[in-house]
Amino acid sequence: MAQRVRKAVLPVAGLGTRFLPATKAMPKEMLTVVDRPLIQYAVEECLAAGIEEFVFVTGRNKGAIEDHFDSAYELEATLEQRRKTVELKQTQNATLKAGNAIFTRQQKPLGLGHAVWCARHWIGREPFAVLLPDELMVSSPTCTAQLVTAHEMTGGNVVAVMDVPREQTGSYGIVATRNEKNGLAEMTGIVEKPKPEEAPSTLAWIGRSVLLPEVFDHLEKHETGAGGEIQLTDAMAKMIGHSPFHAMRYNGQRYDCGTRIGFLEANIAVALHRRDTAVETRVLLNRLLKG
Ligand code: UTP
Repeated sequence: MAQRVRKAVLPVAGLGTRFLPATKAMPKEMLTVVDRPLIQYAVEECLAAGIEEFVFVTGRNKGAIEDHFDSAYELEATLEQRRKTVELKQTQNATLKAGNAIFTRQQKPLGLGHAVWCARHWIGREPFAVLLPDELMVSSPTCTAQLVTAHEMTGGNVVAVMDVPREQTGSYGIVATRNEKNGLAEMTGIVEKPKPEEAPSTLAWIGRSVLLPEVFDHLEKHETGAGGEIQLTDAMAKMIGHSPFHAMRYNGQRYDCGTRIGFLEANIAVALHRRDTAVETRVLLNRLLKG
C-alpha cells in the first residue's frame, strides 16, 4: 500500500525577475490574487489534500512569508476589540498549526532541483508533494488532492500535466508518456524546456508533483541542466524505470502567476468566480471595456 503523503515542499527562493520591480523587496509568492497571497493558495491546496506539514525553501527577502503564517497577536487583539469577527477569522485562518512549518534557506538560487534538495532532512524517507506557488490552481478536488489520489493508486511518483501550445514547449518540462487510461499515463521521459521541434509531446509539467524520496539521491549529485541550473525535471527523468512514474492530466484551471498577464488573468478569473466579488467585477469589466 502507498505511504500517506503528509508533507509538502514549497520552493520560494527564486528571484522573481519577471516581476521586478514589485519583487525587489517583496517575495513574488506574496503577490495577491484578490485578497490573499499566492503562497496561501498553495498551502490551502495542500490542506484540502490532507497535507499539514510544510517545508518552505526560502531565500533573502522572504521574511514576509514566515510572518504571514505566524499569528499576528497585536492585529488580532485590535480586530477582536473592534469586533471585526470576519476579518479576525480570515487573519487566523492564515496561521499554520504550531510546529507544522519549517523555513529553510537556499542560500543561492541554483535552480528548482537544488531548492527541493534543501528540504531533504525535513522530508526524510517518505513521499512528499512539491508545489510551485506561482502556479495557481483552481479546482475541486484540488490539484494536489488529485495527485495524492493518483499516488495512492500507483504507489509512485506522479506529476500533474496539461496540454500547452507546441510553440510554448521551451517554457516547460515536457513529458513523454504511454498507455494513458482515465487521464493517468506511464511516464517514459521528461525533458526541460525543449524546442518545439524536439519536444516529445505537448504535455507540460505544471508545477505540482508527488515524489518519492529517491529523488534526493539524484539531486545530491548537483548536476546542472538547462540554463546552467540544477533542474528538478532532470532528477525526475533519472527515476523513470526505477520506481513507478506517472503523468496525471490535471482537471481544473491553471493560472501562471509567474508572468504579468497570467497573474492579471488569475485576479480577474478568481474575482469573477467568487460569490462576494463576482457581480461587482463583471460590472467593472463591462465599464472598462466600454470606455
Ligand atoms: P521560477 O523560475 O518560475 O521563479 O521558479 P523565479 O526564478 O523566482 O522567477 P523569474 O523566472 O526570475 O521571474 C519556480 C519556482 O521555483 C522557485 C521559485 O521561487 C518559484 O516558486 N525557485 C526557483 C527556487 O526556490 N529556487 C531556485 O533556485 C529557482
